[in-house]
Amino acid sequence: MKLRWIGAVLLSAAAYYVYLPLPSTVSEPWKLMLLDAMVVSWVEVIEAHSCSSVRVTDSLLGGVPARVFQPIGGKKLKRGVVYFHGGGWALASGRMRSYDLLCRKMAEDLDAVIMSVDYRLAPEAVFPEQYYDALAASRAFLSAEVRQRYGLDPERLCVSGDSAGGNLAAAVAQELGQDGSLEVRFKAQALVYPVLQALDFYTSSYQQNHNVPILYRPVMAQFWLQYLGADPGLAPLLLANNHSSLDQAHLPSQVRSKLNWTSMLPAERRKDFRPVVRAEGTPGVLAAVPGLTDVRAAPLLADAAVLAGTPRAYVMTCEFDVLRDDGLMYVRRLRDAGVQVTSDHHEDGFHGCMVFAYPPIRSDVGRRSMDRYIRWLDQNL
Ligand SMILES: *[C@@H]1O[C@H](CO)[C@@H](O)[C@H](O)[C@H]1NC(C)=O
Ligand SMILES: *[C@@H]1O[C@H](CO)[C@@H](O)[C@H](O)[C@H]1NC(C)=O
Repeated sequence: MKLRWIGAVLLSAAAYYVYLPLPSTVSEPWKLMLLDAMVVSWVEVIEAHSCSSVRVTDSLLGGVPARVFQPIGGKKLKRGVVYFHGGGWALASGRMRSYDLLCRKMAEDLDAVIMSVDYRLAPEAVFPEQYYDALAASRAFLSAEVRQRYGLDPERLCVSGDSAGGNLAAAVAQELGQDGSLEVRFKAQALVYPVLQALDFYTSSYQQNHNVPILYRPVMAQFWLQYLGADPGLAPLLLANNHSSLDQAHLPSQVRSKLNWTSMLPAERRKDFRPVVRAEGTPGVLAAVPGLTDVRAAPLLADAAVLAGTPRAYVMTCEFDVLRDDGLMYVRRLRDAGVQVTSDHHEDGFHGCMVFAYPPIRSDVGRRSMDRYIRWLDQNL
């Protein structure tokens, strides 16, 4: 991580040097450029951190560690977002700089209380533990006790997350949408390039972007196997779509139709890619790894009636992301189920871009996507 940061600073220094030539006689111009790029990065981060209008505390939410961002002043009754970070169910934390900065900005711009949940991670914890942590934290977030302690408006609460965190947010929205005993419900779900299915590793976006940083196709297969507590040696089988072959007894056509991208996606996304459906695959794998067809792990497989019980949705997708079609198919299925959905597609986006909005990367699409995500929350929560 440190190394990557230094690399990015070096790169921006190099780019800077081209645009901003120094006097030719200055001592060691490269070092001066490097120093300048570092100082500029630090100043921006310090400015973002020092916004004194947000109080940050580490707490527990339903027994799960969470970082809480509370705006100081503003309205008495606040909007609230429970947030699940990305990282393949195995990496990152709400305390990481990029997520910390995102949540501070959300708290400040939205005058909302943000709770960023540190659910347990693989390989120490595997499915369904991450899901149970997300669910426990979300139930606590909606509880009268937490609402009173933090002054949350019961009618303006949202569940959100990016990537693997978007997976957890979608799964939680489905489960709690079915729970008739809840006094208070989520008003919105905001899913940022979520991962939603593990049955088809040949969607048009998996084919188009298999080699696009930062999320390569084989890496996503590894994240899935690790999350589901399965043998990592099964990756070649997954990458061959051998687990969703036509001879799989556990996969009725009614399940297959829920991720049939040839029928669900518009031609401009499908392009010329062809589905890969094997007549024969590896028998028994779905029984050996039941998580592959468990809706709590793969929310795209939920029944329409369950989707219909979920709140108004925002789904961000990026063109250069293997998970693009997971998100776009979910948009389609939610809409078909009668849910109001904003589909926010970034033609120049890549997986993870929203957390690279800040220095030293300062991604342009990262910034734009973050702004649009926050604007949607502002208008819909
Ligand atoms: C997907 O949908 C297309 C078009 O409706 C259909 O021809 C195809 O058989 C379906 N594929 C699967 C695997 O169900
Ligand atoms: C996929 O299934 C086919 C047919 O059963 C088999 O020949 C092949 O070895 C399998 N591939 C992997 C990677 O398991």
